[in-house]
Amino acid sequence: MSEPEYPLSTQGLVKHYSSFTAVGPVSLKVEKGWIFGFLGPNGAGKTTTIRMVLGLIRPNKGSVKIFGEDPFKNPVKALSSVGYAAELPNFQTFFTGEALLDFTGKLHGMSLSKRTRRSKELIDMVGLGDHASKKIGKYSKGMVQRLSVAQALMNDPKLLIMDEPTLGMDPAANIYFRDLFKKLAGEGRTLFISSHQLDEVQRLATHVGMINRGHIVFQGTTDNILSAFAKEYLIEVELEMIDDNVVEKIKNLGYVKNVEVETGKLYVTLNEKKDLRADLAEDIIKSGGRLQGLSLHKASLEEAFIETLRRGE
Ligand SMILES: Nc1ncnc2c1ncn2[C@@H]1O[C@H](COP(=O)(O)OP(=O)(O)OP(=O)(O)O)[C@@H](O)[C@H]1O
Ligand SMILES: [Mg+2]
Repeated sequence: MSEPEYPLSTQGLVKHYSSFTAVGPVSLKVEKGWIFGFLGPNGAGKTTTIRMVLGLIRPNKGSVKIFGEDPFKNPVKALSSVGYAAELPNFQTFFTGEALLDFTGKLHGMSLSKRTRRSKELIDMVGLGDHASKKIGKYSKGMVQRLSVAQALMNDPKLLIMDEPTLGMDPAANIYFRDLFKKLAGEGRTLFISSHQLDEVQRLATHVGMINRGHIVFQGTTDNILSAFAKEYLIEVELEMIDDNVVEKIKNLGYVKNVEVETGKLYVTLNEKKDLRADLAEDIIKSGGRLQGLSLHKASLEEAFIETLRRGE
């Protein structure tokens, strides 16, 4: 059987700037439908990797495949189903938002009617309906970021690569775009998103790759990284009323390490790294507690990220 055509894969990508190795070797595989969160501190090599993936800068070593095509050897074929939202996009300021999308559509060889329909649809989708005919030079930072996402979607891409797309967006926009990205992935697209907003990535990404000083230090599912880095699992319990008797009984359960009561909630630390919500719910009810809610906390992606960087020091 031949190797499946991943939306994106890199093999041993390396980029040197004089004697400094900015990236590498980096090998990544991103499968269809994934939302891949590409994380790393400032200067880790995210943008450099992305630019190599898109064929914008040439690697010193290694190779890239986009749907099985090499973006250096066959750029048109490789990139025809890719959308790219650059970090801090540098758009021509004299264009209006809608003119930029129209121009992008022309570059993709789209007909006038298709361009007009698609740009209107995207302007509305990213919430720029009131600003479509305003010059980009007069856009706010968040508006430019929104336009950048719209531009990346103009050719209806199967692979969407975005370098910190929500940088500078307000909290409501962050939530809106998180949902939009999930919807795009739900339609069968693959998303590759670099970000510093770890809580966002934790909520959004199915998979995570962490890069530090040019090296991939973790690659796997978001769940895996959270389990791997969780020192212990904690279940937050809401009861109708906190009863000392019930608390005592929970403390004595074999799988419970510790119980703390804080602001009307119980925080139950477990002896094992296992999701024991169902067992705990049953035991609370058996001991006479009136349960209103249970939620499991593993490590946060932020804790995992800091710990990964620390281990790599
Ligand atoms: N044209 C260049 N010439 C020399 N060094 C460069 C060049 N471009 C990037 N670098 C260096 O390569 C390293 C990786 O940079 P890169 O822009 O890929 O980081 P990043 O992970 O995207 O960071 P950020 O989160 O700040 O965007 C940095 O040390 C940077 O200074
Ligand atoms: Mg960058």
